Amino acid sequence: MTAQIENTGPLTTEAGAPVADNQNSETAGSGGPVLVQDQLLLEKLAHFNRERIPERVVHARGAGAYGTFTVTADVTKYTRAKFLSEIGKETEVFLRFSTVAGNLGAADAVRDPRGFAVKFYTEEGNYDLVGNNTPVFFIKDAIKFPDFIHTQKRDPYTGSQEADNVWDFWSLSPESTHQVTWLFGDRGIPASYRHMDGFGSHTFQWNNEAGEVFWVKYHFKTDQGIKCLTQDEADVLAGKDPDSHQRDLRESIERGDYPSWTVGVQIMPAAEAANYRFNPFDLTKVWPHADYPVIEIGKLELNRNPQNIFAEVEQSIFSPHHFVPGIGPSPDKMLQGRLFAYGDAHRYRVGINADQLPVNRPHATEARSHGRDGFMYDGRHGGAKNYEPNSFGGPNETGRALWQPVPVAGTTGDIPAPSHAEDNDFVQAGNLYRLMTEEEKGRLIDNLAGFIAKVSRDDIVKRAIENFRQADEDYGRRLEAAVKALRG
Ligand code: HEM
Repeated sequence: MTAQIENTGPLTTEAGAPVADNQNSETAGSGGPVLVQDQLLLEKLAHFNRERIPERVVHARGAGAYGTFTVTADVTKYTRAKFLSEIGKETEVFLRFSTVAGNLGAADAVRDPRGFAVKFYTEEGNYDLVGNNTPVFFIKDAIKFPDFIHTQKRDPYTGSQEADNVWDFWSLSPESTHQVTWLFGDRGIPASYRHMDGFGSHTFQWNNEAGEVFWVKYHFKTDQGIKCLTQDEADVLAGKDPDSHQRDLRESIERGDYPSWTVGVQIMPAAEAANYRFNPFDLTKVWPHADYPVIEIGKLELNRNPQNIFAEVEQSIFSPHHFVPGIGPSPDKMLQGRLFAYGDAHRYRVGINADQLPVNRPHATEARSHGRDGFMYDGRHGGAKNYEPNSFGGPNETGRALWQPVPVAGTTGDIPAPSHAEDNDFVQAGNLYRLMTEEEKGRLIDNLAGFIAKVSRDDIVKRAIENFRQADEDYGRRLEAAVKALRG
């Protein structure tokens, strides 16, 4: 299906003057040079040269859709967020899915985490939950993120992704073993964006009217069921239909087959955090459901396609720091880094007024800041005063923070996040491996071995396998044998 084309009158220039000829540029006589006075030609060429904006440095490739979030449980004892205040309450959302490493034109069917970024247009401002389809991540400190992504992207010399770089970094960052086990397992290549779960991944703060604090983790369970591709299936699909995920999402919404997710949270009372067996703010770890069960709180449905991909998907911005009253950050060192990174990326990629574009601005309230001017400012504030405090009836601060303060201790320093009683880099990777069936283990080993076998240096191969052996002796032994069989 293609969108309707509007035709309400003559073609015009950008300034609105009618265009007489859009096929022939203006020349000096027949066969002569083109004239500078052909402003239509110059305007078209100049506009065309400026059609691109910088692609996202990660998650460049994606697709989005609008929908509705509906509350299905009473969570008012945990959070005072208004959009969660009543069973049955509906909030408009925009969700952008993505892959991580590929550039804008890359294929969808690849082994890579998928982004799962949700913008809730709430009456208290936009709340963005910028998560993935994996509950954990490769690293646990934002200071490592640029290095990590450099190993996933193109090598400065070869211009390609290099197995040497990927495994050099992962093997030297043993905290990645859990996420790598997840990624090379059966769920590593979703069949589509509709057939995968989403996670907020980090731990976030909820606080209620009484000021009590809870730590929460978000889960979006697909109602379509999990469907994945094997490496062989994905290799074929990526070549045949590079846009497979994007097409699947758009077409399912066009035919009224609206994808949905059941939304749940794990909730930890603040007092339990200090002595929990794992550091609850460590992004490389899950909270086992036996410790904190997932409580269902809502339904998320996607039911409207964007009309203009560039305006609504490419220019959409999601910021982990977009919180609303009753929700805030945790001390997770990754999350803390992200609180800076996204706003900065948006100012660079879309511009200082990115927040005011239709897809990004609040839909259920209005922004009443004193931010003004800059490139592409539309003058929305008219003659209103641009400072506070003021005595001309401008908007005022509320005196109530969105989130509650948390206690801190010690001195400043480059200090790793604290380890709790059962924390190490391998325990949950081993648990995940032992949960798999024999067939699942076999596919995991094959997928890992196929990639590790491409590494050129024996010391990197050895170190990589050692990490998996530390997670589980059998895991390491089988991987070593599989890699040996491929490398000879
Ligand atoms: C410190 C670690 C991280 C940093 C510095 C970082 C940085 C970034 C940046 C700069 C972008 C591009 C933003 C834009 O241009 O609009 C981005 C996109 C994204 N990141 Fe991260 N990221 C980090 C970790 C994570 C983690 C842990 C997750 C998921 C749990 C995640 C999920 C996403 C998603 C879903 C997008 C795409 C958002 C969209 O659809 O526009 N990132 N990240």
